[in-house]
Amino acid sequence: MSLSERSRRAVWHPCTQMQALDEFPPLAIARAEGPWLYPEGGGRVLDTISSWWVCLFGHRHPTIHGAIKDQLDALDHTLLAGLTHEPAVALAEGLSRRTGGALGHAFYASDGASAIEIALKMAHHACVNRGQPQRRGFVFLERSYHGETLGALAVTDVPVFREAYQRLLMPSLLAPSPDARGMGSEAAAQRLEALLDEAGDTIAGVVLEPMIQAAGGMAFHDAHYLRRVREITRSRGIALIADEIAVGCGRTGPFFACEHAGIWPDLLCLSKGITGGVLPLSVVLSSDGIYEAFLSDEVGRGFLHSHSYSGNPLACRAGMAVLSIFANDTTRIDTAARVSAALEEFSRRPELCHARHLGSIWAWDLSPQAAERAPADFAARVRHVGLQEGLLLRPIAQTLYVMPPLHLDAEAIDHLTDRLPRVLDRVLSHSSREAPAWTTPSIA
Ligand SMILES: Cc1ncc(COP(=O)(O)O)c(C=O)c1O
Repeated sequence: MSLSERSRRAVWHPCTQMQALDEFPPLAIARAEGPWLYPEGGGRVLDTISSWWVCLFGHRHPTIHGAIKDQLDALDHTLLAGLTHEPAVALAEGLSRRTGGALGHAFYASDGASAIEIALKMAHHACVNRGQPQRRGFVFLERSYHGETLGALAVTDVPVFREAYQRLLMPSLLAPSPDARGMGSEAAAQRLEALLDEAGDTIAGVVLEPMIQAAGGMAFHDAHYLRRVREITRSRGIALIADEIAVGCGRTGPFFACEHAGIWPDLLCLSKGITGGVLPLSVVLSSDGIYEAFLSDEVGRGFLHSHSYSGNPLACRAGMAVLSIFANDTTRIDTAARVSAALEEFSRRPELCHARHLGSIWAWDLSPQAAERAPADFAARVRHVGLQEGLLLRPIAQTLYVMPPLHLDAEAIDHLTDRLPRVLDRVLSHSSREAPAWTTPSIA
């Protein structure tokens, strides 16, 4: 039995309707190197989405691997309550330095969603400790995505992920998206202001994804919105929670997306790229104001949240390696410019509209005419044909995007610009239905 077949029997795959695997079986990957994935059956696939936006500098980066191997020989794991270790401290110090000391306290967890849970709990608990327990509501934005655990899902606006769990979710207030394709940032900021005025002193925090609402369809907004939300939340004593899980670690250019606006939130969540996509780690960075609200003689006023793997030394060491690569890296900006130039012609295709780009994220929507003739399962078809053409792609509904590793050589860029138009042509001409299964090693 093939590995793909065994996987379908034994593994419950994430974010997957398992029944659909009859038509779209999972592709078995044997190894990876740089931006390339090597399937079991031969050939290679360009990881244009950095394996769910985590592999920041590509797969098996020697600096990150060297750091983890070195750490493994010294200290594999220990709890972080009552004990500490160099990697957890050094990573916290390094991240704090990157915020100029504005966010000087790092709380560790393992996944993006758990960082969001922590930030929501911290924001509310800080209010409780300050004598405002009625501040228990959160404002989130249309098109937002913050993860799949119940707290994170309660502030996520993607119906297909929420619907089945709606009854389990805490009530939260939905504000308009600042999406540049919609009402834009100033109008969205004014609506947020009005919503907060109406909610009075019941709100603990506003949670948003700075600059790009990623899973909600790569909705871009400008830095003005972030500056306005910073003003609005600060003047009302409400915590601003920046979810930089997708857009942090240099994805949009600067290390933190908030740097585009020159603001710091009260709480900032990082994950995904922080270990270069090798080990699970997330971090919530906190301002002094939030942190100090927890200092007390009473144990229960402290933040008693924990996870077994909080601050795992191997993951933190990988994080330190990412900071050092980022600090010494001179190629990523040049890479982004070369990818942009190479994608220019693709962006002008009549089947596409709203071409947008920031840092190492490029996105396009199907034009209204193309959307009309696109197959209903456009995203699944693109994934399927993409693999046949040697590209790992995962469109969000009718939004096509690439978020490749920050380092791509000329060969990888050529491969991308050669294959991407072919994938689009094949899917829009519906020839994807007659295509052979990708498990045949026809992959380039
Ligand atoms: C902005 C944002 N927040 C939170 C999450 C959840 O992270 P995780 O999947 O690690 O739980 C994601 C995942 O894609 C994300 O894009």
